[in-house]
Amino acid sequence: MTVTFSLVKGSLIDKGDKSYIESLIDETQKKYGCHTIHYWDLVEESGEMGDRKTRGPVIDIIRIDSEVYALGVRQQVRGDFAPYNGLSPIPSEPRAPSLSYQKLGECFKCFRPLVGHEEVFLDIGCAPGGSTYFLLKNGFRVIGVDPKPVNNEVREDFPEGFLFLNTNYAKLKTKHLRGLPPINWIVFDVDTSAKGALPSLLKLMSKLEECVGLIMTVKLEQNFSIYDIVELEEMAKNSGYSEIRKSILPSHDKEFCFFITKVD
Ligand SMILES: C[S@@+](CC[C@H](N)C(=O)[O-])C[C@H]1O[C@@H](n2cnc3c(N)ncnc32)[C@H](O)[C@@H]1O
Repeated sequence: MTVTFSLVKGSLIDKGDKSYIESLIDETQKKYGCHTIHYWDLVEESGEMGDRKTRGPVIDIIRIDSEVYALGVRQQVRGDFAPYNGLSPIPSEPRAPSLSYQKLGECFKCFRPLVGHEEVFLDIGCAPGGSTYFLLKNGFRVIGVDPKPVNNEVREDFPEGFLFLNTNYAKLKTKHLRGLPPINWIVFDVDTSAKGALPSLLKLMSKLEECVGLIMTVKLEQNFSIYDIVELEEMAKNSGYSEIRKSILPSHDKEFCFFITKVD
C-alpha cells in the first residue's frame, strides 16, 4: 500500500459529487482570491496542475472515491511539487555518479536551505557520490561518510573541497571530526530506518556547534506509517528544531525528504 501524506495543510470547503463541487468553484475563487485550480485524482492516481509558480491561495479539487470529490483551499508556496511522476525537475548531470544528484537537487529546490558559499556538509551515506557531486558543483564543501568507496568522477571534477571518511556513521565520534572544517549541515541518505537513525543524528548535531540543519531521505518501507512521520517531527521538535518540513521527491516514489533547521 502506498503511503500518502500532505505536503501542506489546507482547508476542506466541502465534499460531494462532481457537479456539486463544480458549482462551488466560482464562489470559492472569489471568496479566497484563488488564482488557479489543481485537480488531483486519487482513484486514477493522476493530476492536472494549475499554475504552480506563483504564491497565494489556490483551489484543490480531489477525487477521493469513484463518485466523491473534495474541494479545498490552500496557500501555495513557490516551488511546491507535483505528486510523484518519476520525473525530476533537476536536469540530469552525466558525470554525477548516481541519481541522488537529482534527489538532493529536488530537496534544495523545495526547501531552499539558507546555505552560505563554501559552507560544509557532512554527507552521510555519500557513496557512490551523486549527492556529494551536487553539493560540490554548487560551491559547498563536503565531508563524505560511507563504508563504500566514492566514484572517481567526484575527485576528478572537484579536486578541492571534498574529504572522505571511509567508515560507518554509527562509529563516527566528534573526535574524528576535530581538525576538520566545522560542519554546517548534515545530509543523510542511508537505506536504514529513519526512526532508528534520527536520535543519533540529533545527538551528533547537538555536539556540532555550527551545525544548523539536517536534510534526510526517509525510505517508505512497507511498515512505515503516518505516525512515524509524527514521531520524527516530535523528535526534532524536542531537540529544539523550530522549522520542520517534509516533501515528496518527484523522482523517487518510495522515499520522501525530511528537513529540519533552527530559525532564530
Ligand atoms: C542510497 S545510497 C546513498 C547514495 C548517495 N547519497 C549518492 O548520492 O550516491 C546509501 C549509502 O549508504 C551507505 N551506508 C549504509 N550503511 C551506512 C552506515 N552505517 N554509515 C554510512 N553509510 C552507510 C551505503 O554504503 C550506500 O552507499
